Amino acid sequence: MLILGFESSCDETGVALVDASGAGVPRLLGHALHSQIEMHQAYGGVVPELASRDHIRRVLPLTDAVLAQAALPLSAVDAVAYTRGPGLAGALLVGSGTACAMAMALGKPVIGIHHLEGHLLSPFLSADPPQFPFIALLVSGGHTQLMRVDGVGRYGLLGETIDDAAGEAFDKSAKLLGLGYPGGPALARLAEQGRADAHTFPRPLLHSGDFDFSFAGLKTAVLTQVKRLAHARPEGPATPALAEALSEAEKADVAASAQAAIVDVLVKKSLAALEASGLKRLVVAGGVGANTRLRSQLNQACGRRDVRVHYPELHLCTDNGAMIALAAGLRVQAGLADLDRRPYAFDVKPRWPLAALASADA
Ligand code: KG4
Ligand code: ZN
Repeated sequence: MLILGFESSCDETGVALVDASGAGVPRLLGHALHSQIEMHQAYGGVVPELASRDHIRRVLPLTDAVLAQAALPLSAVDAVAYTRGPGLAGALLVGSGTACAMAMALGKPVIGIHHLEGHLLSPFLSADPPQFPFIALLVSGGHTQLMRVDGVGRYGLLGETIDDAAGEAFDKSAKLLGLGYPGGPALARLAEQGRADAHTFPRPLLHSGDFDFSFAGLKTAVLTQVKRLAHARPEGPATPALAEALSEAEKADVAASAQAAIVDVLVKKSLAALEASGLKRLVVAGGVGANTRLRSQLNQACGRRDVRVHYPELHLCTDNGAMIALAAGLRVQAGLADLDRRPYAFDVKPRWPLAALASADA
């Protein structure tokens, strides 16, 4: 069974083809990605309308590239999957409209996929796929969640952020340091030159006894520190000139200390969830899962506790089509995909809790 998948929830257009025949993990036959980062950079963040228009421009050429990689015609496709949510409504509509139109033309079923389910299952495409059950730490630009995963479609929410996501904390701290968009990778790069113990930033809810996170306070603490180093008035506005007053070494110290605070909380809460569940496997997914410090700290801590940590391959940590086609393949194999879904009327779900997948709503 060949499944073509589309991802268009935010600023990456991803297309991929998987073979989900048999019972083994679906095999990736081809995938192509276009990142809009350069286009949005001039605005310091994602401009939704520009994102939608660019998805429209990219999606069919990327599909051609994927089919060429797999050396297969479009007519060989047995089902078409797309990201149904959560994400930017206009951007989601491009992928869902394309998928449904293509499926209709082919007379094949469509499968709407939850974006976070894609991230969550993406380590199954790695050389070292996990086994169920496991704890999943989902850390992206919009979400920070700890889940217990017992199988495909069986996701129990243990805790989540009550305000900013971990990726947002990276991005906002980066912005205060005058780093471009997307801030996470830029902050991580700068942090390599700095001292993680230069400043003590807050680690909220570290000992709250639950699995929730809070990152909104970090940007205030980073701003306060940047102002202090820039000799600016504490009550003054946050302007780009603040970061310009800092030396490279000062910026690197703030970056390293902010990264340490975020990573510390993610590691401690993941360990607590593992301990409470008694599980010995952890899956880390989403864009922040690409962070080197997070990976090394988790590997060390889990190594000491005999816990195996699984990550998606680095290039599949951020948004991509492969994880959407894969999630659809795993759903088909688990008998969870409605392959009779016709006649291609489609909707998108810009806001869509992952835990809702367990309900009839999915
Ligand atoms: O999963 P993703 O590509 O998109 C969403 O679904 O949100 O995650 C994007 C987020 C951004 O906040 C980005 O700054 C962050 O992941 N990110 C990183 C790194 N690479 C991406 N954060 C820290 N370190 C990185 N190396
Ligand atoms: Zn994502």
